[in-house]
Amino acid sequence: LPTVIYPDSEQAAIAVARQIADLIRQCETEGRPCVLGLATGSTPTRLYEELVYLHQHDGLSFRNVVTFNLDEYYPMAPDSLQSYVRFMHEYLFDHIDIPTAQIHIPDGTIPQAEVNAFCQRYEEQIRAVGGIDLQVLGIGRTGHIGFNEPGSGLGSRTRLITLDHITRTDAASDFYGEENVPRRAITMGVGTILEARQIVLLAWGEGKAAVVKRMVEGDMTDSVPATYLQQHAHVQVVLDQAAGAELT
Ligand code: F6R
Repeated sequence: LPTVIYPDSEQAAIAVARQIADLIRQCETEGRPCVLGLATGSTPTRLYEELVYLHQHDGLSFRNVVTFNLDEYYPMAPDSLQSYVRFMHEYLFDHIDIPTAQIHIPDGTIPQAEVNAFCQRYEEQIRAVGGIDLQVLGIGRTGHIGFNEPGSGLGSRTRLITLDHITRTDAASDFYGEENVPRRAITMGVGTILEARQIVLLAWGEGKAAVVKRMVEGDMTDSVPATYLQQHAHVQVVLDQAAGAELT
């Protein structure tokens, strides 16, 4: 997997923000929407801050941008402290000029009987705008991308999944205890993610070093779903020194 290691996550986030800004401007010039797949969590926060900066100080407009978030806990109320809807508004959407109708985040309030139909509609919405131009990913310690936990298939689509125990442990502090972390989530599938024309996976810190090594150097396996990225033609793995420390 093509990998770039930056001195620190700050510089990495700024470089990726510039790359996204260039893509947004290129789409604008070509008169087509720029479709971004977005992640939440601690990894992309500095990236979003930089995009907000570019909007406020460098004339970058998001009026032409359409976004699809990877995932949301289930069940989850949008105004809940831990919701990804709230996260995205707080870090990005409230500070840029993207029209609300162009924002898509899996709905954690959908009644269970309607979740499958909702997930199919999510896929159709992605297709209807022409697919995702650039997908931003983080990686979980389980090797998940989105919330595609170990065992997720190469062809998996947007669906309701059960979160891995390790993932719930990692989310425990956000929820004031593991027992409060939802057991399930709605996530884009591995197949959905791999259809993006370009993918940028970000990882920072020593806690990610071992799983980054497995993703980049290990064999492709469903026990580390991030290894599926090895079969995509336009992926970039962007690391800080600590996350890249175990690579040979
Ligand atoms: C979030 C997502 C997850 C995270 C991953 C890493 O939308 O899809 O795959 O990217 O769990 O989370 P952080 O960045 O908090 O380490």
